[in-house]
Amino acid sequence: MKIKNNVSLSKMNSLRINATAEQFAIVERPEHILQLISSKITQTTPYHILGDGCNILFVSDYLNCLIIKNNLKTKMNIKDCGDHFNIIASSGFEFDDLLQHFLKYQQNNDLRIYGMENLAKIPSQVGSAVVQNIGAYGVEQSDFFSQCKAIDMNTGIERIFTASDCQFKYRSSLFKCIDNQYFITEVCYSIPKGNSANISYPELNRKFTIGKEPTPSDIYSAVAGIRQSKLPDIKKLANAGSFFKNPIISIEQFSKLLLEYPNIPNYQADERIKIPAAFLIDNCGLKGKKIGDVGLFENHSLILVNHGNATGKDVLLFANEIIHTVKNKFGIILEPEVILI
Ligand code: EPU
Repeated sequence: MKIKNNVSLSKMNSLRINATAEQFAIVERPEHILQLISSKITQTTPYHILGDGCNILFVSDYLNCLIIKNNLKTKMNIKDCGDHFNIIASSGFEFDDLLQHFLKYQQNNDLRIYGMENLAKIPSQVGSAVVQNIGAYGVEQSDFFSQCKAIDMNTGIERIFTASDCQFKYRSSLFKCIDNQYFITEVCYSIPKGNSANISYPELNRKFTIGKEPTPSDIYSAVAGIRQSKLPDIKKLANAGSFFKNPIISIEQFSKLLLEYPNIPNYQADERIKIPAAFLIDNCGLKGKKIGDVGLFENHSLILVNHGNATGKDVLLFANEIIHTVKNKFGIILEPEVILI
């Protein structure tokens, strides 16, 4: 496996930041990870594991580090395990390929196995989906996560992580907190056979007729349609999905907000309340704001877009201004969902 120098990452991040990696390696088999570890480069040089780059902001133009690109795509299996199905996939596959593979399997075998279809069309690799604990339309990947295999970058030893080992939270996991110590190589999802359709999310619910249960494929198509109508296509307009997390606030803080904004959408999050960051941003009058080539997407204020040649610093400055404005008006501090490098 070759390590290249001065590799442009502009086509490897969906915000299309024109950053350059001082060193760059592509991992296609788990042995490549072990080669990197035994060469000692990962002990002497800072490194970062890169998936599809759909949830990342390269802040510097030049990254004095080794970027390790995940291209592990050797395994994608479905196993009937009696009361559930296991889907086992290498971490470098597109998460959406995994969903489509399972839907095709269901169609070929005349099955209706509900669960993962709500996660349609999220741009992410399978490994990054675990790191970020991706979620949408009432489902998080952690709801179906069974276990993953990961290589410890310090020792080269493979370890199995169960769902509780992963400490999944809203858009977070152990792997996100201990950045890059483990390279996830393979993920196993377990989907029970007895689930019914999860169309409780109001926007999704409106797409279906009451009393007629849609198939998993129907739900997949409906979610894909909603996403397409609201979110910019990364192939046409550079962005990294939701740039900020939705803040989770106390019940007291929420009650105060309700007085002024009785229509604020809200979701229970354990003992606290999750509210849409986009609502706060809009109510600061920031909808459609643009500085140079960076802007808020006009149809959805949680999406920062690069209209052309924005640098990582431009995007960061813009994001900080949004955080500052929202904090001044609401006393709520927005946290980026994207990982900053
Ligand atoms: N809203 C606004 N202004 C806008 C857009 C939305 O005020 O410009 C308000 C609306 O009232 C709307 C509410 O925000 O009802 C929620 O909006 P939406 O349903 O689009 O969801 P979101 O909270 O912005 C989250 C996830 C998305 C996921 C959707 C659907 C986060 C940070 N984002 O977005 O995930 O697709 O819910 O479940 O949790 C991602 O993580 O990259 C992502 C796209």
